[in-house]
Amino acid sequence: MIDQFCVALACSPRKNGNTEILLKAAVERLQSLNVETETIRLVDLSYYPCRACEGCYSTGRCVIKDDAGPVFEKILKADMLIMAAPVFSMGICAQAKMFIDRSQQFWATRYLLKQPVIQDDDFRQNRRGIFISCAGTRLPGVFEGSASIVRYFFKMMDIKLTGTYCYPGIDKKGEILARAGALEEIKDVSARLAGE
Ligand SMILES: Cc1cc2nc3c(=O)[nH]c(=O)nc-3n(C[C@H](O)[C@H](O)[C@H](O)COP(=O)(O)O)c2cc1C
Repeated sequence: MIDQFCVALACSPRKNGNTEILLKAAVERLQSLNVETETIRLVDLSYYPCRACEGCYSTGRCVIKDDAGPVFEKILKADMLIMAAPVFSMGICAQAKMFIDRSQQFWATRYLLKQPVIQDDDFRQNRRGIFISCAGTRLPGVFEGSASIVRYFFKMMDIKLTGTYCYPGIDKKGEILARAGALEEIKDVSARLAGE
């Protein structure tokens, strides 16, 4: 595969934690297939939550100028998005949620301005991605909140969510390395995502 670009969004505040380990495996597999990748760690960025100022309602653009804007620009240009975020307090971690709330500008584009987020039909139809998550417990429904938020986010970004890969019972930093088949699964899925 050539000429494909993937944004890998690491959402956990814990650097090199479980979700980031899985994301790294995905990125390495994609790179082996000549997919261009860019890993972005939200915890390294400085960005604000949505202010609900409604500034984007007439323009489709967020009025806040901070590190979130350039990340959205990259996602808009990407063929693929891989998002990795842990479960915190039975939902998605705050770094991810705060970023996702900033996609209100694309909700405004779609539903108020009634314009496509991605203009080019062929490009839009080919945009795809996956969501990766870990949770410390095995509680029933532990991933439900995150999965629903991520489904919404991918829709707003005009990206087809082709799969959600959730690993319960993974708590300590690096514990995912001992989960049989997890890294292999993510590598296989990433290869399929790239069209292998
Ligand atoms: C603030 C905080 C809240 C958490 N809340 C939950 C929770 O509600 N349910 C759960 O199963 N695990 C919870 N966890 C555990 C994480 O989901 C788990 O440690 C995960 O492996 C972290 O992934 P990471 O290493 O990529 O950050 C929480 C961890 C933290 C730090």
